[in-house]
Amino acid sequence: GAERRLVFVSNRVGPLSDEGKAGGLAVGLADALRRRGGLWFGWSGESSEAGLAGDLKVETHGNTELVTLDMTVEEAEGFYLHYANRTLWPLLHYRLDIAEFDRQSDRTYRAVNRSFAERLHPLLGGQDLVWVHDYHFFYLGAELRERGHKGPLGFFLHIPFCPPEILGALPASLDLVSAMLAYDLVGFQTDTDRRNFVSFCVEELEGEELDGGRLRVGERVIRAATFPIGIDAEGFAEFATSEEAREHEKMVLGMAGGRAQIVGVDRMDYSKGIIQRFRGFEQLLEDYPQTQGSVRFLQVAPVSRGELEAYADLRTELEQIAGNINGRFATLDWTPMQIMTRGFTRRALAGIYRAARVCMVTPLRDGMNLVAKEFVAAQDPQDPGVLILSRFAGARAELSAALIVNPYSSDDVSRALHYALEMPLEERQRRYHLMRQKVFENTAARWCDGFLEAMEECARQSRADS
Ligand code: G6P
Repeated sequence: GAERRLVFVSNRVGPLSDEGKAGGLAVGLADALRRRGGLWFGWSGESSEAGLAGDLKVETHGNTELVTLDMTVEEAEGFYLHYANRTLWPLLHYRLDIAEFDRQSDRTYRAVNRSFAERLHPLLGGQDLVWVHDYHFFYLGAELRERGHKGPLGFFLHIPFCPPEILGALPASLDLVSAMLAYDLVGFQTDTDRRNFVSFCVEELEGEELDGGRLRVGERVIRAATFPIGIDAEGFAEFATSEEAREHEKMVLGMAGGRAQIVGVDRMDYSKGIIQRFRGFEQLLEDYPQTQGSVRFLQVAPVSRGELEAYADLRTELEQIAGNINGRFATLDWTPMQIMTRGFTRRALAGIYRAARVCMVTPLRDGMNLVAKEFVAAQDPQDPGVLILSRFAGARAELSAALIVNPYSSDDVSRALHYALEMPLEERQRRYHLMRQKVFENTAARWCDGFLEAMEECARQSRADS
């Protein structure tokens, strides 16, 4: 029959073009929608008095419609800043120590999920493939079902899913995971995340694992599966040879002045392990004094969620550590490191990656981490840079040819840095080719097709069952 319409729901919507400075999620979804067309529904990113009760904003780009809503200041604060990013984000990244729990933001989060469902439901047809994204919308599927939506519902979590021992601390954990069961298909980045979800269902909700990745909880049978996200590898490789990329590559190389360039690129977030990375770099300079004067480290860290204390504190701390390292090691003609909080376009980033001899991707916990994949895609095959990758990044499952480190160990990081700086061309090429194969094979397009195929399968299954 005719292809079903694709409906994406995510907190951040767009941009559809290459020009934006968007993070991992938005980039993956834009690739998929550009190819297939459909509706993308979410938050406008703005606040207004009417908030979610206000007018829909509709933008049409070829075969794709972007439909967004404002939030009131209270909605945005309770839902996005507080519950999503001060409760769920740290918790799901295994940071029970900094997760905050309060009743008010839990209420606002659920109310916002309800309002999104209310506004989305009239736009939906029963045949649509509705695919909801990320930790902002755990309750959205259940709210759509309550409004009578019968069609297939999929959910993909872009960030980690923590073990039940940690999630159990969330006062609403039973409600939250029960609400996830309204989806027909629940997707995760890695097998670990999937296993954690299944364990919660089994241990806390008397669920039962069936064959074929299916899971029964009470009356519901859903599918939980792993779909590691990818990038538009060809597209990003092309970015890396664009005019804008070349200019940035040249600038970075010029600043490095023949020294080995090390880069890190992350949203400024405590989950990214940037503090530990700085310590590892400092240790490199201590343990291998010959690297003093011969390396340069550039950390790009654009700020988001800066209104939250944990993020503001991190920024202060990082600037302090960078300042200390520079103060301690700088000479008249050499400054060891630089931290920048401004963002770059994706083409510019591709150029920065290409200028790097070493890229450090050392999160303490990360869903996938697309910087790792973009770094690989941007390399010059003749003279590729080295990827240092945390064992706690989802990308580690595919990119095992990187130098894998424990980001908590500055010894480990410093040793890996030294090894990377000394690595002969042949080994760099060998590792690069292994990684390149994965990055170009498991693309954003394949990720998307795989998930949608599994959703179609769920839809067929539920028709056969009813
Ligand atoms: C991660 C999340 C996304 C989020 C992005 C940027 O990649 O998975 O859902 O959009 O971070 O964070 P922000 O809070 O600025 O949207």
